[in-house]
Amino acid sequence: MKTKLLLVLTLILLTACSETPTQAPEKTNVSKTIVDTQLNALKAATKNVEAITVQIKKTEKVATEVSLPSGANLYSQKCSSCHGKDAKKSALNTSQAIAGWESSKTQQALNGYKNGSYGKKMKNIMQGQIVPLSDNDIKLISDYISIL
Ligand code: HEC
Repeated sequence: MKTKLLLVLTLILLTACSETPTQAPEKTNVSKTIVDTQLNALKAATKNVEAITVQIKKTEKVATEVSLPSGANLYSQKCSSCHGKDAKKSALNTSQAIAGWESSKTQQALNGYKNGSYGKKMKNIMQGQIVPLSDNDIKLISDYISIL
């Protein structure tokens, strides 16, 4: 993007500079008008580039959101082996069944495992599961568990 912007700016500047300045007073006004015109064109081009940049950022954001794994996918990939497909199992015969837990309650527990402030004798196992997850992953998974 930056390279393109630079290219556009260089081209416009080159065009502006190619008008040979002259000392003749009657031509000075004409040169000034040309420079003004080029400057305006440059400003307009810069605005266009800015608008396009904003558009690209928006598109990228949408693309990221669409490619985010859903809570269901994350749960089945990362949690179901111990907690069961429907989250109704006691993981390694130790945890409570977490199906239907309020999203906020699960998020609190998971963040607690992440920072070491929550859990019982097997909390290290859960910490290992949760540390690689982002806040957004944790929210998506917790929302999903709440509807199980
Ligand atoms: C390797 C097995 C394993 C995996 C995989 C696993 N867990 Fe756990 N989970 C456990 C164990 C064992 C406990 C109980 C830990 C303790 O002693 O506090 C637990 C506890 C929990 C608790 C708290 C339950 C309670 O009794 O307080 C929640 C919530 C939870 N897990 C959610 C998840 C989520 C969400 C995932 C997927 C990101 C996940 N777990 C992946 C084994 C696992």
